[in-house]
Amino acid sequence: MAESQFPLPTIRWGIIGAGAISAAFVKDITLPREHAQARHIVSAIGTSSLEKAKSFVQDNIPSVPTPHIYSSYEGVLQDVTVDVVYIGTPHAFHKKNCLDAIAAGKHVLCEKAFAITAREAEEVFAAATAKNVYVMEAMWTRFHPLVQDLRKVLFTDKLIGDIRRTFCDFGQDHKLASLGPESRLKNLDLGAGSLLNIGIYSLTWGLLTLDERIGMEASHTEILANQSLVDGVDVATAILLRYPATGRQGILTSTSEFKNDDAFCRIEGTEGYVLLSGPYTSSPRNFSVWRNRSASNSSFDGLQQSEPVFQKGYDDVGFGLYREADAVALDLAAGRRENKIMPHAETLRIMRMLDEIRRQGGASFPQDGESSS
Ligand SMILES: NC(=O)c1ccc[n+]([C@@H]2O[C@H](COP(=O)([O-])OP(=O)(O)OC[C@H]3O[C@@H](n4cnc5c(N)ncnc54)[C@H](OP(=O)(O)O)[C@@H]3O)[C@@H](O)[C@H]2O)c1
Repeated sequence: MAESQFPLPTIRWGIIGAGAISAAFVKDITLPREHAQARHIVSAIGTSSLEKAKSFVQDNIPSVPTPHIYSSYEGVLQDVTVDVVYIGTPHAFHKKNCLDAIAAGKHVLCEKAFAITAREAEEVFAAATAKNVYVMEAMWTRFHPLVQDLRKVLFTDKLIGDIRRTFCDFGQDHKLASLGPESRLKNLDLGAGSLLNIGIYSLTWGLLTLDERIGMEASHTEILANQSLVDGVDVATAILLRYPATGRQGILTSTSEFKNDDAFCRIEGTEGYVLLSGPYTSSPRNFSVWRNRSASNSSFDGLQQSEPVFQKGYDDVGFGLYREADAVALDLAAGRRENKIMPHAETLRIMRMLDEIRRQGGASFPQDGESSS
């Protein structure tokens, strides 16, 4: 492994919830890897039982110093060896888990969707600002190097001319009928639904490819949305995003009933198009840029042919969640309290869009209409 000339910033993590994504997260951040920008230590784990905590450690981080284990989340929050709390619980608990961590003076990295409603997210950010602690939504895909390369192709090099439309789909076959009511994918009280679970990624790709700016600088958008509900849970969401200033459109979809193809996104411009592919819409691995042939070179049948002018693939270590963890470490080492790639304003913008999509589509949660606590 390449040794850095300077000591790497070190973060001691406390993990809240020992579910699937927490397992992937601790595995990823403790993997040996080249060019790591930070050192990560899993210092504590809080879960619903000590047995669960022990097997979580054994299964996912057997070879590093054993973290402190707690049969409650509070234990992690009171642990002085924890710098940042990673929240890997169902959506409906994010607000409470974040507020508890902030009240204990801990920095926070919280899984997506950041909350159930925009109002909840506003409350969390206000508390973090008042306490001067760091909070970021764990929207790991934004930290993938492909995103930066793609946005250069689209907005700086303008290889496909003026961008006109983005199609993006995220589908997973969750076999909802076979799941019990305790599943976070099926239970509205836990924040179930394709939109908050995976549609958020399709929306993210739309926002990242149709507008160069994010957060407070982002252009105004209009939304038309449709959802199919089963027992109140959205199993399919379709979003039409429109930028009135440019006429650009996003056709952004999610479903819990069907696994989408590897080629999950197409971005169209006046001079060509870009294809994105990967095993999941959240996990891009390749993009290719196709430019229209010039009119003089077009084929005799009148169909406009295209040729790839650029293609790039990306290998990954583990799942790829270490990038967001490195970003947190670098921000904290520099004294920042929010991240430039996933600032509070961008999380809030997305949460407001999710609220509007659900208002139009019909998926509602008990938290809708709740006032701040
Ligand atoms: N970044 C990504 O690629 C990615 C992928 C999958 C999921 N996620 C996000 O990560 C979060 C968790 O998803 P997951 O798939 O890891 O969920 P999961 O496997 O169901 O785990 C959720 C954990 O939350 C805790 N929990 C606390 N109260 C609970 C309750 N009433 N019911 C169920 N669990 C409860 C449980 O931990 P203890 O029993 O240990 O306390 C459970 O293990 C969600 O926000 C999801 O959107 C992100």
